[in-house]
Amino acid sequence: MSQPATVAPAPKAAEDTVTLIDNSTGKQVILPVRSGAMGPRVIDIRKLYAETGMFTFDPGFTSTGSCDSKITFIDGDQGILLHRGYAIEDLAEHCDFIEVAHLLLYGELPDRTRKHEFEEIITRHSMVHEQLIMFYRGFRRDAHPMAILCGITGALSAFYGDQQDFDDPREREIAAHRLISKMPTIAAMAHKYSTGQPFIYPRNDLRYAENLLAMTFAVPCEQFKVNPILARAMDRILILHADHEQNASTSTVRLAGSSGAHPMACIAAGIASLWGPAHGGANEAVLTMLGEIGRKERIPEFIKRAKDKDDPFKLMGFGHRVYKNFDPRAQVMRRTCHEVLGELGIKNEPLLDIAMELERIALQEDYFIERKLYPNVDFYSGIILKAMGFPTSMFTVLFAVARTVGWISQWKEMIEDPQQKIGRPRQLFTGNTPRQFVPLSRRGG
Ligand code: SDX
Repeated sequence: MSQPATVAPAPKAAEDTVTLIDNSTGKQVILPVRSGAMGPRVIDIRKLYAETGMFTFDPGFTSTGSCDSKITFIDGDQGILLHRGYAIEDLAEHCDFIEVAHLLLYGELPDRTRKHEFEEIITRHSMVHEQLIMFYRGFRRDAHPMAILCGITGALSAFYGDQQDFDDPREREIAAHRLISKMPTIAAMAHKYSTGQPFIYPRNDLRYAENLLAMTFAVPCEQFKVNPILARAMDRILILHADHEQNASTSTVRLAGSSGAHPMACIAAGIASLWGPAHGGANEAVLTMLGEIGRKERIPEFIKRAKDKDDPFKLMGFGHRVYKNFDPRAQVMRRTCHEVLGELGIKNEPLLDIAMELERIALQEDYFIERKLYPNVDFYSGIILKAMGFPTSMFTVLFAVARTVGWISQWKEMIEDPQQKIGRPRQLFTGNTPRQFVPLSRRGG
């Protein structure tokens, strides 16, 4: 039971507290400390401003917990990633995306009956309203598919006006099902639109990853045959990208949702955040970087640039706010990369050769070792997606398709959290202090 923050008369503070001393006034404040099931304890600072008149200051939230959550646990030092307690390595090896989606959304892996039921629901919500097709027509054909995905997903909220009462658990569940089901359709349509090919409808006889491949690569002129190797690789890539604790895009969805905004609009906000090259846009940026490097001999030149403080260039696909060890997803992705290229009979993929040599060299460099910069989930994913036939501009779109289940599970958890309030951070003001207004006539010039 955590204690409220109080001014300590000087008694011995309880174990589950910290004492803050303002050395400018000598005032002491005792703050509760909370322990979770695993991971770092937290100092509950909710009373801090009321007790001290001070805010905390943590740009980038490097030391800040924003919420309680039961969905995903990451240990960055150990390179551990758990979804509802299950290791990502086990889920990637033994589950399909539908099972992982159910786990994230409902907290448990489904049994056979429930899996079939859930898969049926997701399959049968995969079509989009025919009117939504008109929205694509407004984009230029060369529009980036992430711009299209962001716009169309936001527009989706206009098609479900019947859904506004998200205090109703059933409405929340239906919104979640619609988003998980329709994101592959919307994503594939974005690709088709950019190629000038007709949109392909989802098929109810195909599984989730198979449908995504069919809607992306099928053409009406012939029967599309799903390549089981590619379908399994796609499914595994979706699992590896499904959720990842309170990353930038998930925090964006939570903050947008904290005002009561429509969940589909909140997911559009998450898509916008994911697009950035420092976040989900990195998988596209990795392929561009590997292409720029061009050949192994040029790797030292790029390593030098990455180390140069005056050069904004960063080694894309390297580093992570939380992982200071290998990103466990990157290790599964690297194995999958070799499997897929091997099974596709792609013997010498120059980009893979460059990526492996880049990884080998970087991991020997003091600069990367000292800063604990390891390959992250984005380092290898692009190579697999390129081998599967996706254009580079679709890589982050596929990340968004996968992350939609994480975003909507976190949104649902936020809405159902009794402690939930509208998110409203404060600041350290460093601007002008009050000054006398000067009318235009007296401003000179
Ligand atoms: C994702 O949060 C998540 O969980 C994200 C994600 C998810 O699943 O949701 O895992 C997905 O976004 C993975 C990250 C993809 N982004 C990239 O690969 C882009 C390249 N990486 C960097 O931009 C960076 O590593 C970040 C953004 C990922 C993390 O940045 P941090 O935590 O703010 O770390 P930092 O910028 O403070 O870096 C610490 C030091 C700095 O050097 P110093 O000032 O200490 O001398 O490391 C350096 C940085 O300059 N550094 C890099 C580097 N990443 C960090 N130097 C060169 N190349 C890099 N990639």
